[in-house]
Amino acid sequence: MRIVLVGPPGAGKGTQAAFVAKSLSIQHISTGDLFRSNISQRTELGKLAKSYMDAGNLVPNEVTIAMAKERMEQPDAENGFLLDGFPRNVSQAEAFDELLENESMQLDVVLALEVPEDEVVKRIAGRRVCRNESAHVFHATYEPLAQDGVCGVCGGELYQRDDDSEETVRKRLEVYHTQTEPIIDYYKVQGLVVTISAVGKVEDITTCVMEALKCEDDK
Ligand code: AP5
Repeated sequence: MRIVLVGPPGAGKGTQAAFVAKSLSIQHISTGDLFRSNISQRTELGKLAKSYMDAGNLVPNEVTIAMAKERMEQPDAENGFLLDGFPRNVSQAEAFDELLENESMQLDVVLALEVPEDEVVKRIAGRRVCRNESAHVFHATYEPLAQDGVCGVCGGELYQRDDDSEETVRKRLEVYHTQTEPIIDYYKVQGLVVTISAVGKVEDITTCVMEALKCEDDK
């Protein structure tokens, strides 16, 4: 299956993607995670991406599309993938359509996660991420940890993302409304969008997502 997950910053895309990709045995491809991995490895791409990410802006299309394309073409993505954070504007969606057509592949569904803005702000304020490669995500108040600052899965150090400051989150939300939301209409025209309310317990939302995917698969 090939799935696009779209939603505002902090909607829970990464949280849901981890469960869904695992249960469908497909690759979870997050452009944000790919950029963060480049930043921690101090690559040229990482240096470029960091300046845009820290300001809450999108990284330029040219480098983002090339990076996403390269990842989707890896052998482990042959059986399918769940894209988290890509495409993020109409130009990226058009480039993705071109890639699908060239590779004779089809996109099965676009899941649009809906969360009110005040909830998004609370989620981002409490988000803590593990520094280890698995980058497990926690929430400081919704999901109290056994040990402060320590990943409950692998024992790694937890940190707060540089782009999770209140000012940058406001900018990211503005960018989401102006540049990313239009892709929902773009995909509605293709009849691919399923909207999911992403408020409530993580596991209940996962159940809704899996039910929606089953309906799409049965079509
Ligand atoms: P990216 O990393 O993609 O960030 P984002 O889209 O802003 O999304 P987030 O990672 O902030 O949130 P999420 O929806 O994954 O939520 P999470 O599951 O962590 O992108 C970062 C930057 O990279 C961009 O700003 C841009 O600069 C650049 N970039 C990336 N892709 C790009 C592209 N295609 N083009 C150009 N630039 C690009 O959950 C959030 C918190 O809530 C966590 O603490 C979690 O534990 C908690 N939580 C989750 N679900 C629930 C729930 N149901 N109830 C309570 N808490 C919950």
